[in-house]
Amino acid sequence: MRVGLSYNVKPAHSPAHLPEDAFEEYDSEATVGHICNALSALGHEVVRLGAGPGIIDALRRHQPDMVFNIAEGEGGRCREAHVPALLEMLGIPYVGSDPLTLSVTLDKPVAKRLVASGGFPTPGFRTFRSAAAFSDEGLSFPVIVKPAFEGSSKGVRLSSRAATPEQAREMVRFVTETYHQDAIVEEFVPGPEVTVGIVGNEEPRVVGIMEIAPKKVPNEEFVYSLEVKRDWENQVEYRCPPSFPAGTIAEIERCAVGIYLLLGCRDFSRIDFRIDGSGVPQFIECNPLPGLSPGYGDLPIMADRMGVSYLSLISEILSHALSRQEVSGR
Ligand SMILES: Nc1ncnc2c1ncn2[C@@H]1O[C@H](COP(=O)(O)OP(=O)(O)O)[C@@H](O)[C@H]1O
Ligand SMILES: [Mg+2]
Repeated sequence: MRVGLSYNVKPAHSPAHLPEDAFEEYDSEATVGHICNALSALGHEVVRLGAGPGIIDALRRHQPDMVFNIAEGEGGRCREAHVPALLEMLGIPYVGSDPLTLSVTLDKPVAKRLVASGGFPTPGFRTFRSAAAFSDEGLSFPVIVKPAFEGSSKGVRLSSRAATPEQAREMVRFVTETYHQDAIVEEFVPGPEVTVGIVGNEEPRVVGIMEIAPKKVPNEEFVYSLEVKRDWENQVEYRCPPSFPAGTIAEIERCAVGIYLLLGCRDFSRIDFRIDGSGVPQFIECNPLPGLSPGYGDLPIMADRMGVSYLSLISEILSHALSRQEVSGR
């Protein structure tokens, strides 16, 4: 089969007028290379499509049978939907979630409203257009202030956790003025952080549950911020599986699978939670385009810890996409 790979790579240099994490979500050349190698090892002919407007010509030229999509897209809260929407228009099957799922999950307030409507716990929040509009009414502190539609900890710093309304207002200023979008101000859950990897469709399979445990601070102060992610070897320890009581593990799995289905995820995703003082998993966000870098991405790391090799992981994701096409054409 000829498999196209759609992706955005980090530019070598970020223009000076952009924030330091402007291209944080994009993949490295190395990651693209690893996925290409895995697809070739599975016996496929691989063509690199990139992303952006050039992909239209690349698709016409290469005529792939299937596209393995990891493109984060460019600009706006629907950017992750751009490539899948184009592929749907052209009738080309692709791996991963559809434009609606990619859009609602990128917008954290929208995703949280949907998840809450399904009865799954998620921290209380408000959104603000500017620092001037900020009000602490209805919020209990501490809170965390994040851009409404970013990923990879873009716009999340150690200082994003705010203990007072004054600090929160300053972080709303930082987010809205730097990233030109609403700030979500969310109640901070002080317990352990976990991320859950899921693959599949009708009967999603939990690949692993991984605790991201801070090495240098207690959980109550831990933010998996840009600073921490860039220095993860020193800052965090991955525990997969975590040593939680069986009931907590079961509840994390129930919520993760339920939210995966509720948000319409396909083939693979990663869902982040923090566990509150009562052992309840509080939904933080869903990543239907989780990082696939073998040594760095949480999903490949947890798969590896659970005895699933990188090649098997890529193979399993691709097989789910293929059987979905065969069964329903969706
Ligand atoms: N409500 C919250 N309570 C506690 N920590 C949070 C909360 N929201 C985010 N965080 C911390 O900030 C990190 C990044 O936030 P997240 O919403 O996952 O954004 P991103 O899409 O950039 O990964 C999380 O991994 C977690 O450590
Ligand atoms: Mg996250």
